[in-house]
Amino acid sequence: MSSALSIHQLSVSYGKRQVIRALDVPCLRAGDITALLGPNGSGKSTLLRALAGLQHSSGDVRLDQRALSRQRGEVAYLPQTLPPSVHLSVFESLMVAGQATAAGLSRRHDDQQVFALLQSLGIEQLALRYLDQLSGGQRQLVGIAQALIREPAVLLLDEPLSALDLNYQFHVMDLLHRETRRRGMVTVIVLHDLNVALRHCDRVLMLKDGALQANGAPDEVIDSQSLRRVYGVSGRVERCSQGVAHVLVDGLHSGLR
Ligand SMILES: Nc1ncnc2c1ncn2[C@@H]1O[C@H](COP(=O)(O)OP(=O)(O)OP(=O)(O)O)[C@@H](O)[C@H]1O
Ligand SMILES: [Mg+2]
Repeated sequence: MSSALSIHQLSVSYGKRQVIRALDVPCLRAGDITALLGPNGSGKSTLLRALAGLQHSSGDVRLDQRALSRQRGEVAYLPQTLPPSVHLSVFESLMVAGQATAAGLSRRHDDQQVFALLQSLGIEQLALRYLDQLSGGQRQLVGIAQALIREPAVLLLDEPLSALDLNYQFHVMDLLHRETRRRGMVTVIVLHDLNVALRHCDRVLMLKDGALQANGAPDEVIDSQSLRRVYGVSGRVERCSQGVAHVLVDGLHSGLR
């Protein structure tokens, strides 16, 4: 697993307002899940859209030393707000999504592969249901399946857990962790739940006002200082009786926001 994603001097503006400011991230390794954290409006979705090639940006993003912009087929992206659903069954939508793969080549998936993916997400019972008749969380799970079926080298998920119950949140993160390792993907996930980042992610990037505030292992980066500096809260990270780290928020830090 030698592949890696690197970001050099990436900037994004909306009109005259710069939202991502000359961002440098030397190496996001294949096989690792990176949590992209930061307050509302800090630029997480903008950064993900720029990486997906959906937002004009300046700078240099490389996958395995080659410009990512020349390897768009290697990237799968799940937006924060899902587009309106078409009247297609879940199964059909995965067949269609599976055809959009690397270099625009069509890669056929057989029924069994699609069914196995649905099973791995715990949603095989939805296979013949229509997208426009699903609940919010079910629709989000299908969105994750649509990204995975494309077998990308780079998987970008913007708040993929926001509509999921506790069981599916854990299930999805567990699956993403295993699949990221097995397939050697570079996976970047926008999260607001820092406990999920602590438990399931290999690495954390913290953004504030479009600039990188921290980059490192979750339990090194998430601490009372970064909680105060980045989120403006007084908080602690404590380990439970099973040794798992948890964030506890005690209050708002005065002077910020
Ligand atoms: N299409 C747009 N045009 C102009 N400004 C935008 C646009 N989209 C986002 N912004 C602004 O850019 C900044 C970053 O927005 P972005 O959506 O990247 O934040 P975010 O970190 O994803 O926030 P959230 O956690 O609320 O999803 C915000 O100030 C936002 O208002
Ligand atoms: Mg966002």
